[in-house]
Amino acid sequence: MRARPRPIAGRRVWLIGASSGIGAALARELRRRGARLAVTARRADQLDEVAGRDMAVVPADVTDRRAVLAAARVVEDALGGVDTVVWCAGFWKRLDAADWDADAFARHVEVNLLGLNNVLAATLPGLVRRGDGHLVGVASVAGYRGLPGSEAYGATKAAQLNLFEALRAALRGRGIRVTTVSPGFVRTPMTAANTFPMPFMIEADAAARAVADGLERGRTEIVFPLPVALGMRLARLLPSRLWTALASRGSRAGGPRAGGAPAGGTPAGGAPAGGTPAGGTRTGERRPDRGSER
Ligand SMILES: NC(=O)c1ccc[n+]([C@@H]2O[C@H](COP(=O)([O-])OP(=O)(O)OC[C@H]3O[C@@H](n4cnc5c(N)ncnc54)[C@H](OP(=O)(O)O)[C@@H]3O)[C@@H](O)[C@H]2O)c1
Repeated sequence: MRARPRPIAGRRVWLIGASSGIGAALARELRRRGARLAVTARRADQLDEVAGRDMAVVPADVTDRRAVLAAARVVEDALGGVDTVVWCAGFWKRLDAADWDADAFARHVEVNLLGLNNVLAATLPGLVRRGDGHLVGVASVAGYRGLPGSEAYGATKAAQLNLFEALRAALRGRGIRVTTVSPGFVRTPMTAANTFPMPFMIEADAAARAVADGLERGRTEIVFPLPVALGMRLARLLPSRLWTALASRGSRAGGPRAGGAPAGGTPAGGAPAGGTPAGGTRTGERRPDRGSER
């Protein structure tokens, strides 16, 4: 089935997770292409910088359901309604399976899943009522297969992929489209402190253009860059035993890859991507209470 082109100009977009990285670049790119935007994250000063005079700034913590509901109302008023909701918030911290960090796991679930749940609760009823709308979810190719070190992040990304797929089918007849975005490595604050190789890494601006192009083409899934898209699609097809052997190589080797990506990357030549730990440790926490948030 051929996708129908979907112009961005004139769309009213609520972008959540817009204060840095991919979300910030995407907000600017969508604005450049003629969308009207409201941007959300916790850091209001960063949002102001992204927004300039062109976007509504509505700070909120996605883990706070009431704050998200209140933010949704402010956004509706500011834009006169919302056509497109872009979920781009995210949290990541490397886990060591042999030294389980229950708090870090819980934080991934709180931000990446329960935060998303709060945003869906605040936005889907309005989209369904209008019988028109577009939900864009930024997940990751890290959700395609299980990787050492990425137990928490990857699990929430796999859940997001599944959730967006289910929503796409469930809401198809209600006039709501769902697009899943699965980036490989992108240079953002999230990946800034990673010490391991990040093959095929692209800049946040390039990621934003890839997403905007995909949206304009009416794509259902937007996966980039191409070598990672191909490599991880192939990785998805590998039998479990082979994947486990490859994925555990880095763990057994110890050193910088310990707990991380299969040494030498996936069989397709691309390292597991999408902000997966791939053996590095994550530093650069921006707030003491946040762990490694991105
Ligand atoms: N960079 C990569 O290689 C890569 C690859 C694949 C997928 N991704 C995904 O792309 C998305 C954007 O990541 P990024 O790389 O651009 O990282 P980033 O620059 O760290 O951006 C993360 C965004 O999430 C927001 N956020 C985090 N916790 C939040 C909370 N509790 N409430 C509201 N907003 C919150 C942050 O804003 P505040 O801190 O201001 O709240 C920030 O705007 C994430 O979902 C990430 O998993 C990234």
